[in-house]
Amino acid sequence: MCGIIGYTGSGDAKKKVADGLEILEYRGYDSAGALLLGNGKTEIIKTEGRVSNLKNKLDTLSSNFTTGIGHTRWATHGAPSIKNAHPHRVCGVCLVHNGIIENYKEIKKRLEGKGITFQSETDSEVACALIDSHFKENVHPCVAILMAERELIGSWAFAISFDGYEGELFATRRGSPLHLGKGKDGFYLASDLTALSSFCDEFYTLHESEIAHLFENKALIYTPDGTSTPDWQKNEASYTKADKQGYEHYMLKEINEEPRLVRNALLPYINRGLPDFSSASFSYDLFKDISKIHLVACGSAMHASLLGKHFIESYAKIPTEVFVASEYRYSPPVFEKNTLVILVSQSGETADTIASMKYAKSCGSLTLGIINAPSTTLARESDFCIYTHAGQELAVATTKGYLTQALVLFLFALFLGLGKDKLTENEARELTNKILSVDTPILETIKRQGELSSLASQLVSSPHIFYIGRGIDYYLSCEASLKLKEISYINAQAYEAGELKHGTISLIENGTPVIAFATNEELFDKTVSNLKETKSRGAHTILFTGDFSKSLDGIADECFVLEGKDKIDMIFSLVIALQLLAYECANQKGCEIDRPRNLAKSVTVE
Ligand code: F6R
Repeated sequence: MCGIIGYTGSGDAKKKVADGLEILEYRGYDSAGALLLGNGKTEIIKTEGRVSNLKNKLDTLSSNFTTGIGHTRWATHGAPSIKNAHPHRVCGVCLVHNGIIENYKEIKKRLEGKGITFQSETDSEVACALIDSHFKENVHPCVAILMAERELIGSWAFAISFDGYEGELFATRRGSPLHLGKGKDGFYLASDLTALSSFCDEFYTLHESEIAHLFENKALIYTPDGTSTPDWQKNEASYTKADKQGYEHYMLKEINEEPRLVRNALLPYINRGLPDFSSASFSYDLFKDISKIHLVACGSAMHASLLGKHFIESYAKIPTEVFVASEYRYSPPVFEKNTLVILVSQSGETADTIASMKYAKSCGSLTLGIINAPSTTLARESDFCIYTHAGQELAVATTKGYLTQALVLFLFALFLGLGKDKLTENEARELTNKILSVDTPILETIKRQGELSSLASQLVSSPHIFYIGRGIDYYLSCEASLKLKEISYINAQAYEAGELKHGTISLIENGTPVIAFATNEELFDKTVSNLKETKSRGAHTILFTGDFSKSLDGIADECFVLEGKDKIDMIFSLVIALQLLAYECANQKGCEIDRPRNLAKSVTVE
């Protein structure tokens, strides 16, 4: 996590750094800081918390600055405080860092032995001191960086300023993303392309063995083999100025976009009523020998992958396993011949998912990314990529990202099912049509926000809540509990409905809310029995289910009848209901919904 921006040129560096950091704030908001240089002046400003705090301080500076680096932090080493905020300065070197220096303790000890004192608890300051220790040997900044990089272990993207090189910036990376941008009035650095989109038409993604050297009017790339100029590419990324369009929160705005996004996500991959991924540059031939699938992702993307497993196993009958990306390399996975590895990620920059992709490739597997953000590491480096076209997601808690991942996985399952002759063309056509029509139950569920708000009022004072379900309803329960936890800070646990009585039921007390999901008529009675088991022990029970022409009288304390006529409608109605329920709980508790504590939108450290 952490966002980096850098600029040098003839424009107003203070404004560029502040505007860039505002876009990058989703990467962390524990503290923000900037180094500004120009006309012989140097300022380092740091603030705790949101970028707006930094902006307010920057506004008080009157000078014109032509060079700057900025940082928005998600704390890893050291508390979120001014002392630990970036930029860090050690003698002649000042830097901002995204990543983790794993061997910082040994280096710190060594440097302390040479008389260097540290001001912060961070690993980043140690990297700064190490670069400075080489810079002191009177070498060029690029050589100092190269020598330091040889000693560092971990991941990093650095934007660096060296004393005596006013108007020049240096940058390098290993593991963490960093792009250069070419604008009309100078050169830029940024952790992601959206932060460059309003300034630059062209970008260059720094490779891991390269060091960038930016001047006001030129950019150079150093590699061990020599010096070159960047191979600029057109910047297609776009950033829409943050605008809640009248909604109270981005999360609510993004939930309200979901009906429209059904077509956005699916239509690029449908041709004559059938799944067709030629716009993602592949045909079924690529997968004809695939006999096993691994879906690898983190958090909500992992929960969308669980839905994907259900769809792929239902429609294509290919054995599919879902892995938490941070565990993938260590589980260890068994790669059978012809295992396809699908990496699912909204941001395309999640460190553990990237590491899993690299691991799968090194084991000889074909990799497919299901990604929202374009031109990101996963999108670039997976063998093939399907974009989910959800548009920019600004709320930290994903909603439309998760929905569009599930939709694309559904369509991909039909694509495989058709290819493997597990579905007839007619069945695939019908199901394609069906998935395109889930915008209606989605929209109808959104209209019932008021009902979900009343249900939320029955939950907000509970310290913990259980979600239960069977089959795909359990997978939806996982997402429901994560969503509730992360934005409302109510502890919620998801359980397979039949599993609760094997221990956890002992936690049920008078009034403990237990929420059951039952979208599958065949499993309805069993799930309801499990819910009743909790009711007998005092639980406050809430059931989300379909209109199965069964009497719901006395079945639970509260029932929410999902929208739609069949299982697929209800699954997608439930996706929205669980998001709105979490939203309503968080809103009623007065939580900071779009920026929950301790979180960042893009998790770029392992
Ligand atoms: C939860 C949430 C996270 C992300 C996870 C993976 O609301 O947003 O759990 O789903 O961090 O992120 P991506 O999809 O960007 O790889």
